Amino acid sequence: MPATMRTDQFHDFVPPGMTGGQSPEAAKIDLCKTRFPPFAILLYGLGRGEPGTMQSWIEFYNSAHSIYVNARHKDAHYRDVAHAITALVPNARARVLDFGCGEALHADLVAAAAAQVLLCDAAPNVRAAIAARFGADARIRVLSPREVECLPDGALDLIVANSFVQYLTTVELDAHLVLWRRLLAPTGRLVVADVIPPEVGTLSDVRALLRYAARGGFLVAACLGLARTALSPYRRLRATLTIAKYREVEFLRALRRAGLAGERLAHNLEHNPARMTFSARPSTAR
Ligand SMILES: C[S@@+](CC[C@H](N)C(=O)[O-])C[C@H]1O[C@@H](n2cnc3c(N)ncnc32)[C@H](O)[C@@H]1O
Repeated sequence: MPATMRTDQFHDFVPPGMTGGQSPEAAKIDLCKTRFPPFAILLYGLGRGEPGTMQSWIEFYNSAHSIYVNARHKDAHYRDVAHAITALVPNARARVLDFGCGEALHADLVAAAAAQVLLCDAAPNVRAAIAARFGADARIRVLSPREVECLPDGALDLIVANSFVQYLTTVELDAHLVLWRRLLAPTGRLVVADVIPPEVGTLSDVRALLRYAARGGFLVAACLGLARTALSPYRRLRATLTIAKYREVEFLRALRRAGLAGERLAHNLEHNPARMTFSARPSTAR
C-alpha cells in the first residue's frame, strides 16, 4: 500500500485538486504521488472505451445522463438517501464515507449528524459538481477512489455504498470489500444497499420508480422519463455492460471472505423493496 496518514491527520485531509475550504498546507498533501496503486488501476482501467463511445458505467455517470426524470426526482432521491444514511450515523463524532456517492445533493444533512463526511465517486465530473456545491463545508470532503485507498486503517466509523456494487465485477467487489474492511474502525459498520438479486430485473425497477414517482408527485414526468430512458445510452449500457446480481447467501459469503460479519436488513435503503441492503461489521474470526 502507498504511504498512509496517521488517524490524527484524518480530519485535515484534503484531496489534491480540491477547491474551496482548505488551507494551502492541507492542499499540498498528496498521499499517493509516487505510486499509482494496482487497485486504482483496476478501477480506472477496466471498461475504458474508445473516445467518443460510452463503454463503462463510470463514463455514463460522468456524462450528462438523464437517469433522473426531472429535478424533483433527483432532489427527492438524494434527500431520501441522505436521510437514510443519516439514520445510520452512530454518533456526532462519526467519520462517514459514502462510496459511489453520485451527486450527493444533500450530503450536508449527513454532515450535520457526523464529524466528517467523505464523498467518493469515480466520475470526475460528479466529483467536480460535489466540490463546487460543498467546497465551503469543512465537514465534507470529496475523494477519488484512489484517494480513498490512501486513507489509514480503521479511519472510518460508517461506510455506505448505495446502488453501487452492481457496477462491479465479482473480483472488483471482493477488492472493495477488503478495502472497506481495512478502513473500518473495529466498531465500524459497512452498509451496502440496493444490491440486486438475480430474479429482479428492469420491470421491478420500473414498477418501483412509478410508485416512488406517484408518492413524490412526478408520475407524469416519470412516464415520459421512462420512454426517454428506453432510447438512451443507459438502456444500451444495461444491455451490454455488467449489472452484477447476487443471491443473499452469495453476498453474505463475499462479506465473510473479506473479514466482515454481515446480515441482510429487513428493508432496502432505497425505494425498490425487491433490492437488498446488507449491514456488516469487522469480524474477529477470519
Ligand atoms: C447509481 S449511482 C448511485 C449514486 C448514489 N450512491 C445514490 O445513492 O444515488 C452509481 C455511482 O457510482 C459511481 N461509480 C461507478 N463505478 C465506480 C467505481 N468503480 N468507483 C467509484 N464510484 C463508481 C458512478 O459514477 C455513480 O455516480
